[in-house]
Amino acid sequence: MTRTPPFIFSIVPSLILLSVAFLPSSRAGVVDPRCRVPDRGSTLRVFHVNSPCSPIRPATGGLSWEENILRMQAEDQVRLQFLSSLATGQKSSVPIASGRQMIQSPTYIVRVQIGTPGQTMLMAVDTSNDAAWVPCSGCVGCSSSTVFDPTKSTSFKAVGCQAAQCQQVPNPTCGVRSCSFNTSYAGSTIAASLSRDTFTLATDPISGYTFGCVQKAAGTSIPPQGLLGLGRGPLSLVSQSQSLYQSTFSYCLPSSKSLNFSGSLRLGPVGQPVRIKYTPLLKNPRRSSLYYVNLIGIQVGRKVVDIPPAALAFNSTSGAGTIIDSGTVFSRLVAPAYVAVRDEFRKRMGNATVTSLGGFDTCYNVPIVAPTITFVFDGMNVTLPQDNILIHSTAGSTTCLAMAAAPDNVNSVLNVIASMQQQNHRVLFDVPNSRVGVAREACS
Ligand SMILES: *[C@@H]1O[C@H](CO)[C@@H](O)[C@H](O)[C@H]1NC(C)=O
Ligand SMILES: *[C@@H]1O[C@H](CO)[C@@H](O)[C@H](O)[C@H]1NC(C)=O
Ligand SMILES: *[C@@H]1O[C@H](CO)[C@@H](O)[C@H](O)[C@H]1NC(C)=O
Ligand SMILES: *[C@@H]1O[C@H](CO)[C@@H](O)[C@H](O)[C@H]1NC(C)=O
Ligand SMILES: *[C@@H]1O[C@H](CO)[C@@H](O)[C@H](O)[C@H]1NC(C)=O
Repeated sequence: MTRTPPFIFSIVPSLILLSVAFLPSSRAGVVDPRCRVPDRGSTLRVFHVNSPCSPIRPATGGLSWEENILRMQAEDQVRLQFLSSLATGQKSSVPIASGRQMIQSPTYIVRVQIGTPGQTMLMAVDTSNDAAWVPCSGCVGCSSSTVFDPTKSTSFKAVGCQAAQCQQVPNPTCGVRSCSFNTSYAGSTIAASLSRDTFTLATDPISGYTFGCVQKAAGTSIPPQGLLGLGRGPLSLVSQSQSLYQSTFSYCLPSSKSLNFSGSLRLGPVGQPVRIKYTPLLKNPRRSSLYYVNLIGIQVGRKVVDIPPAALAFNSTSGAGTIIDSGTVFSRLVAPAYVAVRDEFRKRMGNATVTSLGGFDTCYNVPIVAPTITFVFDGMNVTLPQDNILIHSTAGSTTCLAMAAAPDNVNSVLNVIASMQQQNHRVLFDVPNSRVGVAREACS
């Protein structure tokens, strides 16, 4: 196994309008060579699903900026419901996905080689999920023409019903030879057979990786080339690659608006930042996959806003507290916390007229200079610059505070630090030492 120093980011192009893809496919066209740069060492490039390098861009043709924002918000809402149900769920152990609940398609993808020889799949990464699954050849209802073909892999194995992993998947059934399971994702459902094969991440092969080979899919919202769960539960990447990566990884998420191509997912303790501030990870035994942290306060500018402690307190019984999630786009705070932040933010904007846009209630049609917002965690303060706080319309006329209150139609006890607020930061998950680190890093 070789490890090389941190990934070197590709440099600015203005190619966003070119149609590019990783693989010769029906979407072919001009393929930007930068999209084909191989991953090195233990570092994978992370693409926004809308990146020019992503062949699985959702069809957004013709949608205005406002319509796109509203769509992302609607998807966030569905995911919030899913996360809240996880956080408050009664089951103590639900390792692969969580069954019947809904979740949106995540926003970031990485390239994974599966089997021997490797077949390339662009899998969505999701820190609040443990499952790994990919569409397999013969799949009925899968949307992707790129599928994994087990018959072309010499290392592929079905997982038998007696295997411990068969007890860890939702709704397991025993077929003639192997263990199968059904689950739902983003309102879609999949039926998959539990399988094992080599997953090669950058240049690191992980043999015998347990995943679902999807045979049947219904619905349109599952990640087309599969899901790679980065949660903390038994079947996640973190657990299955423990001896190689010591349950340590970090990512830097690129901005969705970036002209640059990728951020990075760095696996294992080697090459992680040394100068980084940490906050302890909290464990909720009722929901083993989620990364809970202790958010103890929020500052707008230098002012600590007045938030009732109960709005932030961790409670493993009720599921209350704060998680770091890569799949939600805009951070959500429980109502008393959000209102305190928003009111102080508005105060700083003086008499500029407040408007709203969909679920964002603090928007302006005049240029504004926003104060910083600081998340005060146990032992670590993360001060967000304007780029992590504001969204600007493409025409430049509307600017909104890019956070919202947790939806009140669900059991809203969960604060979610989402991808918009994590972009251009390195977020380091150090499970053995039970801590999460955050440091600024320009990776867009
Ligand atoms: C799983 O899905 C398949 C195909 O849709 C169905 O035949 C089977 O009954 C389902 N099994 C369970 C346990 O839900
Ligand atoms: C945690 O939540 C449970 C269930 O809602 C509640 O009964 C309990 O009092 C809470 N614990 C604390 C310390 O607030
Ligand atoms: C905002 O207040 C300032 C003085 O405090 C005033 O000069 C300005 O006209 C006001 N702007 C608006 C749009 O009301
Ligand atoms: C974080 O900010 C708070 C409020 O300004 C301050 O009291 C605390 O000492 C800071 N903590 C760290 C670890 O810097
Ligand atoms: C792209 O990356 C380069 C180098 O990392 C950086 O200087 C530049 O500002 C980035 N461009 C955008 C649009 O983010």
